[in-house]
Amino acid sequence: MELRKIDPANLDSALAITVRPDQQDLVASVVKSLAEAYVHPAHAWPRLIVDGDQPVGFVMAFIRIPWNDEPGVDLRSGLWRLNIDQAHQGKGYGTYAVEAVCAELRARGETHAYVTWEPRAGGPAPFYRALGFHLTGEESEGQIVAVRDLTGFPKSSA
Ligand SMILES: CC(C)(COP(=O)(O)OP(=O)(O)OC[C@H]1O[C@@H](n2cnc3c(N)ncnc32)[C@H](O)[C@@H]1OP(=O)(O)O)[C@@H](O)C(=O)NCCC(=O)NCCS
Repeated sequence: MELRKIDPANLDSALAITVRPDQQDLVASVVKSLAEAYVHPAHAWPRLIVDGDQPVGFVMAFIRIPWNDEPGVDLRSGLWRLNIDQAHQGKGYGTYAVEAVCAELRARGETHAYVTWEPRAGGPAPFYRALGFHLTGEESEGQIVAVRDLTGFPKSSA
């Protein structure tokens, strides 16, 4: 498994990643995420998740910019989007992507990774909680905010 930068050769594969129809309210489409990455190039870290040469999902981290500490700017880093293709869920790819993003953040000196999720049955709350994310008690635009402490986890090889 690896994370690959989105490039002209794999763009169509990234755009083809889709979650199940009943999950489409849980995460934005890849095309929307890539549009956001285009307008927030300093903060967005979009990657295609591949197993061998098989595209299986899409993940996008948000990266804080330490020197951009003006008031009102969010000084957090974490997972922005995670879409595991409907044909490839439940095979460990989501876990791999979370660990890979956490490794990237740790390598950048971050001590915490944040995520938000839709608070509904069938949402990803159990997935993230099993990975060590705990609720901060905040909500953001109707979503639950959670954080994982990166200092206590072993470095991933991702
Ligand atoms: C949630 C999601 C990212 C998980 O990725 P995945 O590759 O299917 O998950 P994994 O195979 O790594 O699963 C790891 C564990 O979490 C569990 N899990 C995964 N999704 C779950 C869910 N929605 N509810 C409960 N448990 C879940 C798995 O059963 C597995 O448990 P196990 O270790 O006891 O077997 C993926 O299902 C997905 O893309 N869902 C739709 C979009 C979404 O919700 N994205 C997150 C937006 S914040």
